[in-house]
Amino acid sequence: MILPITLYGNPILRKEVEEVETGSANQELKQLVEDMFDTMYHANGVGLAAPQVNKSLALFVIDTEAFLDEGDTEKAVKKAFVNPEITETSENRCSFSEGCLSVPGINEEVLRPEGVRISYQDVEGNSFDEEYHGKAARVIQHEYDHLYGKMFVDRLSPLKKTLLKSKLNEIVNGKKVPSYRIKPNK
Ligand code: NI
Repeated sequence: MILPITLYGNPILRKEVEEVETGSANQELKQLVEDMFDTMYHANGVGLAAPQVNKSLALFVIDTEAFLDEGDTEKAVKKAFVNPEITETSENRCSFSEGCLSVPGINEEVLRPEGVRISYQDVEGNSFDEEYHGKAARVIQHEYDHLYGKMFVDRLSPLKKTLLKSKLNEIVNGKKVPSYRIKPNK
């Protein structure tokens, strides 16, 4: 099922999330993950965090396939990350143009660590501890930020933020509406 996506200005995007109860008994979680993938694909996204579907839960899904270019050597990562924790980040940083389904119409270069180490669970409650690099690490960090009420525009320079102010206000005030299903701010 395609869920409505919350937009910049919705307070849920600024709230810190709650831990998710994993395990095979949690059918609701399985359904939510499935719905989040459907919602992400419908909106042509490569990642989606639970607060973006109005759920204050420590969960995000990614599929980097559409983000990869022909020459890229990295493999696509399609996965749900439940109760994730980034435990290490690489010293070297790189810049990528980022966008966000909750911030339609804005794309900006963001500097972030090139690699991350992340521990997380799957929906069944199995634990993992893995390293990701390149575009997968990029998407993971962007989605992980959502779980702490942070958005990519917060990471821009004060000047950039000032320049984007009116565009962001348009989203807050419901004057910028994307083609996918949204939960209106007003
Ligand atoms: Ni986002």
